[in-house]
Amino acid sequence: MTATFTAVDSIRRKRDGLALTTAEIRSLVEGYVDGRIPDYQMSAFLMAVYFRGLCDREMTDLTMAMAHSGDMISFGDNPRIVDKHSTGGVGDKTSLVVVPLVAAAGVVVPKMSGRGLGHTGGTLDKLESIPGFRVFLSPEEFRRTVAEVGAAIVGQTGNLVPADKLLYALRDVTATVDSVGLIASSIMSKKIAGGAQRLVLDVKAGRGAFMPAPDRATELARAMTAIGKGVGLRVVAAVTSMDQPLGLAVGNALEVEEAIGCLKGEGPPDLQEEAVELGAHMLVLAGVEPDLPRARDRLTRTLSSGRGAEKFEQMVTAQGGDGRVVDDPRAVLPRAPVALEVTSAKAGWVRSIDALAVGHLTMRLGAGRQRKEDDIDPRVGVTLGAKVGDRLEQGALLGVVYAATDGDARAAARAFEKAFELASEPVPPPALFHGVVS
Ligand code: URA
Repeated sequence: MTATFTAVDSIRRKRDGLALTTAEIRSLVEGYVDGRIPDYQMSAFLMAVYFRGLCDREMTDLTMAMAHSGDMISFGDNPRIVDKHSTGGVGDKTSLVVVPLVAAAGVVVPKMSGRGLGHTGGTLDKLESIPGFRVFLSPEEFRRTVAEVGAAIVGQTGNLVPADKLLYALRDVTATVDSVGLIASSIMSKKIAGGAQRLVLDVKAGRGAFMPAPDRATELARAMTAIGKGVGLRVVAAVTSMDQPLGLAVGNALEVEEAIGCLKGEGPPDLQEEAVELGAHMLVLAGVEPDLPRARDRLTRTLSSGRGAEKFEQMVTAQGGDGRVVDDPRAVLPRAPVALEVTSAKAGWVRSIDALAVGHLTMRLGAGRQRKEDDIDPRVGVTLGAKVGDRLEQGALLGVVYAATDGDARAAARAFEKAFELASEPVPPPALFHGVVS
């Protein structure tokens, strides 16, 4: 019986800084989804949460109320099933590497991913640059692929967490997106409805991240692990740097090519480090290895043996894609007609590469979406010729812009050059991991 609470009482109590009961939170979510609670009351509630926050128990209640608002998927309680989620960044193709890598080591990963929006890319868009790759599988196909290959990466289908779709749209137009409690509940409700029981989260912090300040990103990581504890889900959340793009490639087909190279043990170092570290947490959560050092060691060997690349090929083929992409990415992936090299006007050490600026310029090239309904061009993007800490001589390569037209390439090249800041003194390479919350 949930109708004993009136929305206005709950709004008032939250406005005054009181904690709401489990039943009150459920009543608000159910009432909003079935249309009894109007937008203006839910907007007032969200704003009260924005200013007053939610305690761990309230976040857990909100997460579960949202998760139960639609379909709930279950993969049974196989302890080897582990999910992975990133809050999103620029050049973040980690899932393309981690998922086949850990699957090759015995972890089972039925992964639901999203599309890119704004300056951040999306795993589904990247995979769709492989000819034939299908991100929408029937529930039966999804299960079969996971059973046969050990991993599948698909888009969300069916009626999963309708409460989040409604609430997110309202938060977007009421300036209430940026609330740790609401973000944590939103992300965790989708993971729980998607059947996750063990989860590794990659919470990005820095210029190109959704939550730039490392202490706020750490707060978000802590909130999500607290929700995990509240619902009996085992969660490890790493806070990783997104000040400069991850790896060297930004853009859909370019990132697939880089991920394949990484799966063959060919780096780049930061992408490999992040994939091995996040993957190691997945192996430990799954009980495949007893501790992180052994898990890291196993994944490093899996990379150099090429078994991760073989697993990626199996997954691509099972999802309808052209598996030859693993042997010869350049022949299979679509390529932009224009490639323009950008060089450094002066010598120095790279102090910073603005990930947000790189994200925006690649979005303008067509690699990302300004609005949800925009189409993307899988061919375009940039590759970096240097990373923070590198020494550059005058005329050295900053990177290459891949574009659909000469005009697009020239405009992007100007913005790309400005994204680099050089120093006259050596700059130490930045740390990739800010910390881990578990
Ligand atoms: N990502 C989500 O899924 N939800 C939020 O609220 C913010 C980012």
